[in-house]
Amino acid sequence: MFDSGTGGLSVLRHIRSALPHEDLLYVADSGFAPYGGKPEAVIVARTIAIAEFLLARGAKALVLACNTATAAAIKGLREIHPDLPLVGVEPGLKPAAALTQSGIVGVLATARTLSSQKFEQLRAQISAATGVRFLPQACIGLADQVDKGALDTPETAAMIARYVAPLIEQGADTLVLGCTHYPFVQALIEASIRAATERPVKIVDTGEAVARQLQRLLIQHKLERQPGHVGTLESFTTGKESALADAFAKLLKIQPNVMQIDLQHHIA
Ligand code: DGL
Repeated sequence: MFDSGTGGLSVLRHIRSALPHEDLLYVADSGFAPYGGKPEAVIVARTIAIAEFLLARGAKALVLACNTATAAAIKGLREIHPDLPLVGVEPGLKPAAALTQSGIVGVLATARTLSSQKFEQLRAQISAATGVRFLPQACIGLADQVDKGALDTPETAAMIARYVAPLIEQGADTLVLGCTHYPFVQALIEASIRAATERPVKIVDTGEAVARQLQRLLIQHKLERQPGHVGTLESFTTGKESALADAFAKLLKIQPNVMQIDLQHHIA
């Protein structure tokens, strides 16, 4: 599995608890993060290179633990590897549409995800089927704050309030975390909701659903590892080893092996 940086750890925690027997490989493309403001072609090339790296390491399935990479590259990746079990992450518009009572849902994500064709199609489809209005909000700089470990600083809190308050003012009673970095600042998101309204506002994260989908695919492809083995975790980064090690320690309280990698020879 991979992400542009540490956001994918919010998906990894669900995968580790749903599939404790599986050996996991995690790539943080931190040398190229954030993905959110980069051209689509760059994200596609990075995604394909990381997929090649993971497959060369023996991966039997791939999880794109990044909404931005999924929106840009999952279609192309499926064309290159039609038989590979592949799980992407996309903003949970469908669960949010089932939860909202005001019929207005805010979607927090990167600018790249929100401007993608994939997101536009999903939004149009769910809106047409449910009548729910989605308010997209690009959270520029927020994934960076998480990658920096600035999870509870006044600067991050102010940034979140700037993004969240207008959505609440427009009547949103449900917010979708459409970027895998954002669950790590959920406490600040909740605080900014409380500062903006006394009404209850629900938060939708898709990490658990992604883990369930991976489990379904492994069973369907008869690739599930049987109990009796304790799953291992190896991690790789295109950035600094110490930064990823710190993120694992801080966000998940674990200390896996971390190795720096250079994907240059995988880039087409
Ligand atoms: N974690 C990512 C996502 O889910 C990407 C954040 C970024 O690199 O901008 O969209």
